[in-house]
Amino acid sequence: MKRDYLRLSDLSLPETQELFARARMLKEGRRAGRHEVTLAGRHLVCVFEKASTRTRLSFEAAMLGLGGTVTSLGAADSQLARGETIEDTARVVSRYADVIMLRTFGDDRLMAFARTSRVPVINGLSEGGHPVQLLADLLTVEERLGTIAGKRVAFVGDGACNMARSWMEAARLFGFTLTVGAPRGYTPPASELEPLRQHVRVMEGAEEAVAGAHVVVTDTWTSMGHEAEADRRRGALGPYQLNEALLSRASGDAIVLHCLPAHRGEEITDAVIDGPRSAVWDEAENRMHVQKALLEKLLLG
Ligand code: CP
Ligand code: NVA
Repeated sequence: MKRDYLRLSDLSLPETQELFARARMLKEGRRAGRHEVTLAGRHLVCVFEKASTRTRLSFEAAMLGLGGTVTSLGAADSQLARGETIEDTARVVSRYADVIMLRTFGDDRLMAFARTSRVPVINGLSEGGHPVQLLADLLTVEERLGTIAGKRVAFVGDGACNMARSWMEAARLFGFTLTVGAPRGYTPPASELEPLRQHVRVMEGAEEAVAGAHVVVTDTWTSMGHEAEADRRRGALGPYQLNEALLSRASGDAIVLHCLPAHRGEEITDAVIDGPRSAVWDEAENRMHVQKALLEKLLLG
C-alpha cells in the first residue's frame, strides 16, 4: 500500500528519527564527495499551486542527487490554473510519477489529491501545515543543540499559519514545549490546540512567549493566499517582530529559525537573521538532505 506524507505525524517518532540519521549520513557523504544512487529509474513530479524557491529546488536537487528524475509544474503553467480538477490532475500525474509532491491551498485539496493518486503524495505546504519544512527545522535544531525533547521552542507572529501549526504537531511528536506568542485573531485553531494543551501554550505577549526559549521561530506575517490582508496583518503583528530586544529574552544559547522567504524589517530584522544566533541557512540546506531521506523512505520503505 502506498504511504503518503501529508502531515508530520504520518511518520512515527522512531521513523522520523531514522530519517534524520539517514539525512545526516547523506549530508556527510555529499561533503566528502560521495554520491549515492538509490532512486535510479524513479520519477518525482512536483506540482505547485503557489510560488516556491526552496521547495522546488531542494526536491529537484534531492531526487536528481539520488539518481532519479524529476519534473516540476509551476503554479501558472498547468491546467490546474485553468480549472482542471485536483482529482483529474492526480489521476493523470500519478500515471507518470512514482512519487508526487504537491503544494496547494486548503487541506481539502491536498486530501482529495492524495486519495486519488496511485502513488505516494508529499505535502509541500498547504494551509494546514508544512511538514517537510519541519523535518528540516527539527534536524537543524538537533544538529545545533542536541535532542529537542524537553526543550523550549517559541513561535512568534501569525500563530494560525501553516508553520505554527506544524510546530504544534512537532511538539507532541517530539515531546517539547512550544509557546506561541500571537495576538488575538492570529492564534492557532482551537480544534488543533485543544488536544495539544500539554505541549503548547498560547500567550498574547511576545516577550513572555520567548522568555527562556532554546529555539525562537518566526514566519511571514502574510502567508501565500492571504495577500489581501497584508496591511491589516502588518498592523496587528508589528509588536511580534523578532528583533534583538525580543531575542535577548531567550536562553543565552538560543538559535533562530525562519523557513524563508523572510520579509526583512517586518517579522524579522537584518540584525537577527544575519546575526550569530541565526541557523536559517543551514535550515534551508537541510531541506534537501532530509527530503532525500523522505523520498527513499516512501519509495523504498
Ligand atoms: N520554505 C519554503 O518552503 O520556501 P519556498 O516557498 O521558497 O519553497
Ligand atoms: N507561511 C508561509 C510559508 C512559506 C514557505 C506561507 O504559507 O506563505
